[in-house]
Amino acid sequence: MTTAPIGVFDSGYGGLTVLKEITRTLPEYDYLYLGDNARAPYGTRDYDTVYKYTLEAVKWFFNQGCELVILACNTASAKALRTIQQNDLPALGADKRVLGVIRPTAEVIGQFTKTGHIGILGTPGTIQSNSYQIEIRKFFPHLIIIQEACPMWVPLVENLEQDGEGADYFVKKHLDHIYQSGPKTDCLLLACTHYPLLLNKINRYIHEGTRVITQGNIVAESLAEYLKRHPEMAQKLSKNGKREFYTTGDVAHFDTRASLFYGENVAAFPLQWT
Ligand code: DGL
Repeated sequence: MTTAPIGVFDSGYGGLTVLKEITRTLPEYDYLYLGDNARAPYGTRDYDTVYKYTLEAVKWFFNQGCELVILACNTASAKALRTIQQNDLPALGADKRVLGVIRPTAEVIGQFTKTGHIGILGTPGTIQSNSYQIEIRKFFPHLIIIQEACPMWVPLVENLEQDGEGADYFVKKHLDHIYQSGPKTDCLLLACTHYPLLLNKINRYIHEGTRVITQGNIVAESLAEYLKRHPEMAQKLSKNGKREFYTTGDVAHFDTRASLFYGENVAAFPLQWT
């Protein structure tokens, strides 16, 4: 039987926080998750490398029968999505689609602030790309945006140190920077799909009245809307409620951590780039 699962990609575990919400919202579809753990983190890599790695992953998804791929990674969305959509997709399959997480987040973020001052926390790659500033300006031109790169947050999560003492230091440091630059900040966007795993620590150091926004449910709602608007795509996708997981890293490691992050048992298959 041929299947056309929805592909969900991340550099590692972070995309599982998005997949969790997507499968909750759209449980009937089949899903194929790939974590490129062997090459994570992406956030400190240059454009060409993130583009090359992400394109390799997209090609792999298409070879597995995917018609639709979600880059559940802000870094890949910031550094590779546009080039893949514009330059590669016509040759790889003009009817196939690759979607990211930045645009759907930018479309709604202004709803969550009263002061009009928001903080964006992301990887160095996402922040340096300025993608959030550019996208948010299109929908909410008057928002004051303070951006902060948090280079240690993904490694903390990838190494299961999200509840350790080191996490306190690095979480407080970057939240303090945001409030120093923008004392009126009342909305913090976790613009990296790994960061919800640090919520225990983040909630400890935010100022009263701050709303913390994670992307999982935003991306899930946006995908549901997209499939309503594009029945030609929805019809092509298989619906057996199946989930499959692949990692380029160590499978046993992935299973333990992924089960924690996804909230259900995960038994992944190995993938090696050739
Ligand atoms: N989850 C990825 C993101 O949303 C992390 C990127 C990384 O590997 O540094 O940006």
